[in-house]
Amino acid sequence: MNKVILEVKDGVGILTINRPDKLNALNNEVLSELNTIINDINENSEVRVVLVTGSGEKAFVAGADIAFMKELTPREAVNFARMGQEILNKMEQSEKPFIACVNGYALGGGFELALACDFIYATENAKFGFPEVSLGIIPGFGGTQNLPRLVGKNVAKELIFTAKMIDASEAKELGVVSRLFNTKDEMIEGAVDTAKQIMKNGTIAVGLAKKSIVDGFNLTKEDGLKYEANLFGVVFSTDDAKEGLSAFLEKRKPQYKNS
Ligand code: COA
Repeated sequence: MNKVILEVKDGVGILTINRPDKLNALNNEVLSELNTIINDINENSEVRVVLVTGSGEKAFVAGADIAFMKELTPREAVNFARMGQEILNKMEQSEKPFIACVNGYALGGGFELALACDFIYATENAKFGFPEVSLGIIPGFGGTQNLPRLVGKNVAKELIFTAKMIDASEAKELGVVSRLFNTKDEMIEGAVDTAKQIMKNGTIAVGLAKKSIVDGFNLTKEDGLKYEANLFGVVFSTDDAKEGLSAFLEKRKPQYKNS
């Protein structure tokens, strides 16, 4: 059985981590399939927006696989962390938007997978946390870097040092979650609606806006503004920019060609 599944319909890819008997925990096999599928998504122009979710109702992903990690030597642990970081980085660097759809537990590597997406939707039963220090280890797939950038250093420290879980409404208050839903089906429906809204816009423009935010976030404001201005220039080299601006002036809907 595939451990990661991708279904594509009308431009929207639904990527499901599919190891429900172990609450979708990430081992080498899952990560390797995830890597292949992310590469495929990035190459496939049919996929324009990706939803990331976990199989079943109970968990998005309950972390990296603890049984697998127990056997790692220090050198293997570095490689495991680097591998996870590289895969999640491909999602962050992808020109396509990724929406995390968190059902149930998003712990450790699961929280990190959600943080690698562009924004996070969640069901009321979602639970977020970094249990690593309670296991005597630390987050290794970007958690210590991405969580402070999202919620601020002090809130991130409290969550990581205590290893406590927070529920969906607290995660929403902290700005981790953008929208809450009662059920998984409602969440997927809501995320597909959001994807459709995104897909009405110029694909190249959305990709460049993502690039400007993601890359600009690690720059000083001054360098970020220069970077944004350069990408603003790049977008003006596209037919879509001419089409979008003309369509407004001609009072008609734009017909983007993604070129
Ligand atoms: N790695 C490996 N296996 C995991 C796992 C993980 N991160 N999370 C859950 N599982 C496995 C359990 O071992 C169990 O397997 P088994 O049926 O063969 O015994 C199965 O998934 C179901 O989990 P279980 O613990 O029985 O469910 P629960 O409802 O009692 O508890 C959690 C749910 C999420 C609270 C609990 O599974 C948990 O604490 N998981 C580990 C979370 C964690 O520390 N993640 C970060 C790792 S760095």
